[in-house]
This record gives sequence, C-alpha cells and structure tokens, in this order.
Amino acid sequence: MLTTTSCISAGDEVTPNVILGIHGGIGEDKKDMTPDLEAKVRAALNAALNAGKGKLDAGGSSLDAVEAAIRVMEDDPILNAGKGAVFTHEGRNELDASIMEGKSKKAGAVASVTTVKNPITAARAVMEKSKHVMLIGNGAEIFAGKQGLDIVDPSYFWTEHQWKAILEVWKQEAEAKAKNEHGALPENQLPPIHKFKFGTVGAVAIDAMGNLAAGTSTGGMTNKMHGRLGDSPIIGAGTYADNDAAAISCTGHGEFFIRYAVSHEIVSQIKYKKVSAKDAVEDVINRQLKEINGEGAAIVLDKSGRFTTARNSEGLYRGWITADGTIQVRIYDK
Ligand code: GLY
Repeated sequence: MLTTTSCISAGDEVTPNVILGIHGGIGEDKKDMTPDLEAKVRAALNAALNAGKGKLDAGGSSLDAVEAAIRVMEDDPILNAGKGAVFTHEGRNELDASIMEGKSKKAGAVASVTTVKNPITAARAVMEKSKHVMLIGNGAEIFAGKQGLDIVDPSYFWTEHQWKAILEVWKQEAEAKAKNEHGALPENQLPPIHKFKFGTVGAVAIDAMGNLAAGTSTGGMTNKMHGRLGDSPIIGAGTYADNDAAAISCTGHGEFFIRYAVSHEIVSQIKYKKVSAKDAVEDVINRQLKEINGEGAAIVLDKSGRFTTARNSEGLYRGWITADGTIQVRIYDK
C-alpha cells in the first residue's frame, strides 16, 4: 500500500477530438526506469494505439478499437496482462478482463483464466455470445475454447521479469516469517507488495456513431491469493461505458477500486452532478481514493470525445490519438 507521502496527484490536460485512449498500468517508479524499458513501453503503447485506430479507420466500432488495442498490450510481455502477467502466491498466472459498450450498456467479463491467450476477446465473446456478463475459471476457459478463441498452455504467460518478482516476494515473506517468533505472519503483516507495482492495461474509444466503449485486462497483483479478483473484470469498478457520460478504464490497487465502484462513480458524477469528466475523475482518484491510500489511476473519454486522465501514482503508461491521427504517449509527466 502506498504511504501518504508517496501519494502524488497528477493528471493530463483535457484533449478534444480523441477517438482512442489507452493505458498500460502504473508501471515502474521513475528511479527504476531504464532507457530500454522506456523505449519498449512507448513502442507498445504506439502499437496499441495504431491497432485501435486501424479498426476505427476501417469503419469498425469503438468495441473493435478497444479490443484491438488491448490485444496488442496483452501480447506484449512487458505489460501485466496476457503474456507478462504477474504471478499469484502459488506461482500461477490468473488473468481477468472486461469490456463494455456505452449505447446498449452490454458488458462481458472473464476472471481467473489461465489458458485464454487474449482475455479481452473472451470477455467480448461472453458479452456477445452468451446470456451472461461474467464467466470465471474453468467455465470461462471451456466457453472460450468453444468460441474458437486461442487457447494456450499456462506456461505461455511465463516471463522472466515477473518470475523474478514473485521469487523476491517469496524471499521477503520467508525472511519476515523467520523473524517472527510466533511463526507465520498474519496476512496484513506480510511485506508490502507496493514495490511490485500494479500493472493493468485498458482502452476507451468513441466511434463514428458516437458510441463509447471501454475495456480493461490484467494479471492482477503480484502474490495475489489463488482466486483473488481485482477491479479489472468488475463492471462499474475497473471498467464502465455510458453514452450519456463517458467511457472509463482503471488501473491500481483493485480492492479500493471495487469498494469505491470507481468507474461507475465517475460516470455518476458526470451524469447526475453535471460536473466535467476532468472534475469527476480528479475527485475520485485524487480525493476519495487518496484519502484511503488507494493507489491508482483512471483514463476517461467523455461523450464529446474529450480525453483526460488522473493518477495518484508517480507514473501511468498512457497514450491517446485524435481524429486527425496525432498520437501522444506519456509515462510520467510526459
Ligand atoms: N487493478 C488490477 C487489480 O487490482 O487486479
């Protein structure tokens, strides 16, 4: 959990005429960022934006753009979604994703899947090809297989950097337990996981019909318990889209985002308090969550195509593209 002193307030200006905005999670602290990683992050974000824009240019829907952008980020091993996902306490990769369309308010989600190569596509299939909103675990995997989606061996998701991260957590836990004369430490006294970051990817888009869509995909938090779900697959927490207000995707410490129903809270403020998307996202991320040390960020695209972000973390991997093709990619303040 972040400390009050490490909690900073930051966000991006409001940019008009945006058709697609994305994030790749909170990412590395500035002191740990290397030129090599920074180049890879910027390349991944550019590739995701271009994939999503390609769909919109071809007449695709905002859902097509969101799915395409997120698939690129899921396939990129440096981001915590799909390949490159963090490891659970048991050393597995358990993936979550959700997607929502702002006109019909239809939504789909999968959670705790271990063999679905692109969870965002499975989430969309749940939305479009099932009578449900969320499928979890083995049921979601069987459904994805029946839909003809790519199924992989769980080892596909393994990456060296995430394996090193869980090995470091296990080492710290063992050391902490060894120091404790009473044996195992209670869960709330285990070493902080903040150092191991919250990565998640997400996208928001608007299409030629004015329809909004949002999607989010993640491996969750390093060292999470088997079966733990964060906010990313929860409609109204990590993802929400409403044509009357905005499309939102979040990243951060999921437990706080679930408790504060963050994405729905932002939409509700826009709809019912009649505040701007900027004021709404700043209020939720940099007032409500900050007060309880809930670290994270959100990206918001409103119904008029104005895009903005807010974060109480040092960084946020993010980017957006306007209708004329201008791309912005940022990690910290730029
Ligand atoms: N925000 C991602 C998670 O908490 O799992």
